[in-house]
Amino acid sequence: MNFELTEEHKMIRDAARDFAQTELLPGVIERDEKQHFPKELVKKMGDLGFLGIMVDPKYGGSGMDTISYVLIMEELSKIDASASVIVSVNNSLVCYGLEAYGSEEQKQKYLTKLATGEFVGAFCLSEPEAGSDATSQKTTAIDKGDHYLLNGTKNWITNGGRADIYLVIAQTDRDKGHKGINVFIVEKDMEGFHVGPKEDKLGIRGSDTHTLQFNDVKVPKENRIADDGFGFKFAMKTLSGGRIGIAAQALGIASGAYELALKYSKERKAFGTEISNHQAIAFKLADMYTDIEAARMLVMKAAFDKDQGANYDTSSAMAKLKASDVAMKHTVEAVQIHGGNGFVKEYHVERLMRDAKITQIYEGTSEIQKIVISRSVLRD
Ligand code: CAA
Ligand code: FAD
Repeated sequence: MNFELTEEHKMIRDAARDFAQTELLPGVIERDEKQHFPKELVKKMGDLGFLGIMVDPKYGGSGMDTISYVLIMEELSKIDASASVIVSVNNSLVCYGLEAYGSEEQKQKYLTKLATGEFVGAFCLSEPEAGSDATSQKTTAIDKGDHYLLNGTKNWITNGGRADIYLVIAQTDRDKGHKGINVFIVEKDMEGFHVGPKEDKLGIRGSDTHTLQFNDVKVPKENRIADDGFGFKFAMKTLSGGRIGIAAQALGIASGAYELALKYSKERKAFGTEISNHQAIAFKLADMYTDIEAARMLVMKAAFDKDQGANYDTSSAMAKLKASDVAMKHTVEAVQIHGGNGFVKEYHVERLMRDAKITQIYEGTSEIQKIVISRSVLRD
C-alpha cells in the first residue's frame, strides 16, 4: 500500500492547478452568468493534452493513467466544473469508447482529432423517455444495406451544440431488447441532424446542453462501433469509466468549496475572534476535511482498479455516489461558513453549490449507483 503520489503525478496535478488558477478562474463568474461555452479554453486544454489524457500517443493522446485523469479533473473542477465536464465527456465517454471498441479506421479518422482537441465529442444515450431506464431507447437505426437510417430524439446532451462527433446509441432491433442496441458515430454535418435549443440550467452553466433531433440521418455502415448488438454494453462499460471522471469532478467541487471556506473562516471575525475559533465552524471544517478525504480514497481506488485492469464497475459507482453526496453536503456548508457573502457570486461558493447538484444526477443518478452497488454486493 502506498498513499503517496509519484513525482510525475504531482507535476501533472500542479500543471492542472496552475492552468485552473491562471486560465479558468478569471472569467468563471461571467461564463456562469452568461452560459458562455469556453471555446478558447477548450482549445488551450487540448494544447495541454487534457482532452485525450489516457489516449495512446500513437492516436495523439497524452498516454497518462487514470490517476492522472482524476488529478486533472479535481483541479479543474475546484475552479470551473463547466470546463471539467467537457474534459470528462471527451475523455472517458468519447475517446475511451472509440479507443477501446472502435476499428483502426475509426480511430485514425476520429480519435486522433478528438484526443488533441481539434474535435470535441458528445455521448448520446439519454432520451426524453429513457434516462435511468437506458434500455428503453426509442431512437431507431434501420439497416439499409450500406447505411443505417437514424431517427429519434436525444436529450440533455453535453457539448450538444459544440461537438464535431456524436456517439449515438440506438435500437436496431427492438425485439432483441438490449442486444438489439448499437452505437454509431454521427458527424455534425450529416443531413437530417438538428441541434435543438440550449438548456437554461441551475449549474454547470458554462457547459452546453441540448436536445438533438435525428431525422432520416444516413449513417454509413462503417460508422457503427463494434459488433452488432454491442451498443448497450458499450454504453455501460464506457459509463463505468465516466463515473470515475464525474466522481473526480465532485471531489474537486467539494475541495474547492472547502479551501474557500477554510480561508474565509480564518479571515472573518465575529464576537472578537476569527470565526474558525468558534467550535461550530471548526467542527464543520473537520467534517468537510474528513468526508473529502474519504471520498478521495474511493475515487483513487476506482482509478487504481482501472489502471490495474481490475473490474471497476462497482468501485466507480461507489466513488461517484460518495463524492457527489460529499460535494452537495459540503458546498452547502461552505455557503453557511461564508454567511451572507456566501450568497453572492463574487465569493464563488454559491456557484460550487449549484454545480454540485448535477453530480448526483448525470452519468447515472445516485439511486442508479445504488442499484449497481447493491446488485454487486448481493451477487458476490
Ligand atoms: N459492463 C458490461 N455489461 C453490463 C454492465 C457493465 N457495467 N452493466 C450491465 N451490463 C449488461 C448486463 O450484463 C446485461 O447483459 P446480459 O443480459 O448479456 O447479461 C445487460 O447489460 C443489461 O443489464 P441489466 O439487466 O443490468 O440492465 P438494466 O435495464 O437493469 O439497467 C442500469 C442497468 C445500471 C440501471 C443501467 O440502465 C444504467 O446504468 N442506467 C443509467 C444510465 C446512465 O448512466 N446514463 C448516463 C447518460 S451519459 C451522461 O449522463 C453524461 C453526462 O452527463 C456528462
Ligand atoms: P429519470 O430516469 O426519469 O429519474 C427520475 C428520478 O427517479 C431520479 O431520482 C432517479 O434516480 C429515480 N429513479 C429512476 N429509476 C429508478 C429505480 N429503478 N429505482 C430508484 N429510483 C429510480 N445524458 C447523455 O446521454 N449524455 C450527456 O451528455 C448528458 N449530459 C447531461 C447533462 C446535464 C446537465 C443533465 C441534467 C443531464 C445529462 N444527461 C446526459 C442525462 C442524464 O444522464 C439523465 O438526466 C440521468 O441519467 C437521469 O435520467 P432522467 O433525467 O430521465 O431521470
